[in-house]
Amino acid sequence: LWSNLSSEHNNSLRLAVIGDPIAHSKSPVMHNAALASLGLKGEYIPLHVSPRELGPAITRMKDLGFRGINVTIPHKLDVMAYVDRLDESAEIIGAVNTIVNENGYLTGYNTDGIGYVRSLKEETRVRLKDKSIIVLGAGGAARGIVHTLAQEEPKRIVIANRTEDKAIQLAKEWSSIANISGVSIDEAKSYMSSMDIVINTTSIGMHPHTAHSPIDPVSIPPGIIVSDLIYNPLMTELLKKSHERGCITHGGLGMFVNQGAYALEYWTGLPAPIEIMREAVLKSLQ
Ligand code: ATR
Repeated sequence: LWSNLSSEHNNSLRLAVIGDPIAHSKSPVMHNAALASLGLKGEYIPLHVSPRELGPAITRMKDLGFRGINVTIPHKLDVMAYVDRLDESAEIIGAVNTIVNENGYLTGYNTDGIGYVRSLKEETRVRLKDKSIIVLGAGGAARGIVHTLAQEEPKRIVIANRTEDKAIQLAKEWSSIANISGVSIDEAKSYMSSMDIVINTTSIGMHPHTAHSPIDPVSIPPGIIVSDLIYNPLMTELLKKSHERGCITHGGLGMFVNQGAYALEYWTGLPAPIEIMREAVLKSLQ
């Protein structure tokens, strides 16, 4: 792909997602549908970049006039070293998923957390103030979400992780803005009866291991909200079982679409055609 890119691009908008692996990313399909719908000339391409190539790849893309870059696994942390400025969201979360190139000056943003919380609120109509929330996992995906949730004045946030230390560490980082604690994943079930929302941020249950669930759904009280960041499959084992138990379920598609929508708005300054983007991803999942 690199060899096909010339430095001449006639003012058409150049956008890309970088990651390793990258072939299965749904971002190109989603953003190209958005560009077409907005009537913008341009293209959003997937670029395979290994960790060793990250620095040179960013320089190259800057030289080639890329306006925007999405950053995915495993580069969200390391890429912070290659931007000129971090927006507050990326600085606090400690990860970048979106880069805006302003004439060679790169700013790193994080739209995962806001994308997630917007989707959770819109799709479940929940008010997060005074709610008790348990977050499963304490990795990169959990970071952005916990930070954004913490600003919504929840009653408490419990982070439950296989490696308990990581949960405790993450809880400590933002303990000044909300009541947050870290526990081991085995302890998660003992907190369930007092929770309003369960959020899975781990990759357990993701395609192709769709029979797996991060916790035994039997411990989840009927009626509460169960949310999963995974969008492939749309209904994970956790969500299916929770639905059967009478819970309100929320899948990861909305987060994916909204993080992309915020990124597109940073790059173009135009309101993103969210429904078109959602439809494009849905179609490509079938
Ligand atoms: P991401 O950016 O997707 O969050 P990550 O930073 O590698 O990826 O984090 C993955 C999360 O899923 C972690 O919380 C991880 O738990 P550990 O911190 O103990 O590694 C969790 N996770 C992944 N596979 C798991 C498994 N089989 N059982 C329990 N937790 C798992």
